Amino acid sequence: MNFLKLTDRIYSIGVLNPNARVADVIMEVKYGTSYNSYVVLGSEKTAIVETVHLKNFDEYLENITGVIGDKKIDYIILNHTEPDHSGSLKLLKEKYPEAEILASSAGATYIKNIANIDLGVRVVKNGESISLGDLSLEFISAPFLHWPDTMFTYCKEEKVAFTCDFLGAHFCEPKMLSNKIGYMEGYLYYLEYYYKCIFGPFRTFVQQGLAKLAPLETKLICNSHGPILVGDDIDKVKALYQQWSADVKKEVKDVTIVYGTAYGCTKEIALTLETAIKDELGDKVKVAMFEINIDSPETMANSLNHCDGFLLGSPTINREAVPQMWELIGQLDAVNTKNKLVSGFGSYGWSGEAVPNMMERLRALKCRMFREGLKVCFVPSEDELKTVYEYGREYAKEL
Ligand code: FEO
Repeated sequence: MNFLKLTDRIYSIGVLNPNARVADVIMEVKYGTSYNSYVVLGSEKTAIVETVHLKNFDEYLENITGVIGDKKIDYIILNHTEPDHSGSLKLLKEKYPEAEILASSAGATYIKNIANIDLGVRVVKNGESISLGDLSLEFISAPFLHWPDTMFTYCKEEKVAFTCDFLGAHFCEPKMLSNKIGYMEGYLYYLEYYYKCIFGPFRTFVQQGLAKLAPLETKLICNSHGPILVGDDIDKVKALYQQWSADVKKEVKDVTIVYGTAYGCTKEIALTLETAIKDELGDKVKVAMFEINIDSPETMANSLNHCDGFLLGSPTINREAVPQMWELIGQLDAVNTKNKLVSGFGSYGWSGEAVPNMMERLRALKCRMFREGLKVCFVPSEDELKTVYEYGREYAKEL
């Protein structure tokens, strides 16, 4: 049993998963994570905020009963319905059938498709409140933080905001309060990593979320992963989110070129494109060049996701772009690609499918497509390099 009294009437009842090393399939979590959940004890009614991962249900139930004994639960509030928070919902509802589940409209739809039975979810709207007797809970719509379903829940009497993933981190220590963190450097690293992975694509929604929290007096931010934010740490973490989500006006355009090369031909095209772009834009552009099987995948993905435009180069092997290129394309931030000017290039020997295949995928991601991709058969001739150079200059003009 592992629960923690946060205020006279609010307890943390989540579970720790210090052994987790991956979250949501793609995120490395070197120091584990937690699935945070809370119980709010009003004078008349009791509410649970979020549930936990299904795998942790038994421990979770022990935590709940450790706090409420044999009392009933009146409400289960889901601020966000991803299965790390809704996974135990069905079992919890079986255990407490009288509990009414509250979620946003999108959340209600997702719960239906996650539970695959009708759990009788009540949709709550932005600004709506419920009374627990001497405590109230207000719902604040906060979509795309990071799913369309997201909302915050606020208890004004206790000055506590429940923000689900927002302001959280995949980080686990025995004492899950921000003022008790032992390894602060690790926490700060994973706070930012989590922000980039989860909220990076939703910069404007992050700003809106911060604006919605700003007027609320809060002494605790009860998030859904990692340490609960206490006191001054609330403003510190909010300031970091403000900084990371700021709309920075750029004087200089950033272009990223990533290429794979078997015998140096695609590399020669890449270098010619780089020269052309720099010749056209001078000090108004920075070009970052990466060779796909030399540079770190994380660095390349980060560069692609923060540039103004990119060019991807691959030779054709087995009628396809090289596998490392597909792995990299899989890491593109699909929300913000539409603003980036992109194209593909590559040397080929027989059929040259790599370039059109990459272009098709970039088109599906709704990137700003620059013309058709650029293909060169085997070793680029002097004339072909002139064509490549002109292509690069035209790309730069359109950037
Ligand atoms: Fe922690 Fe978006 O789930």
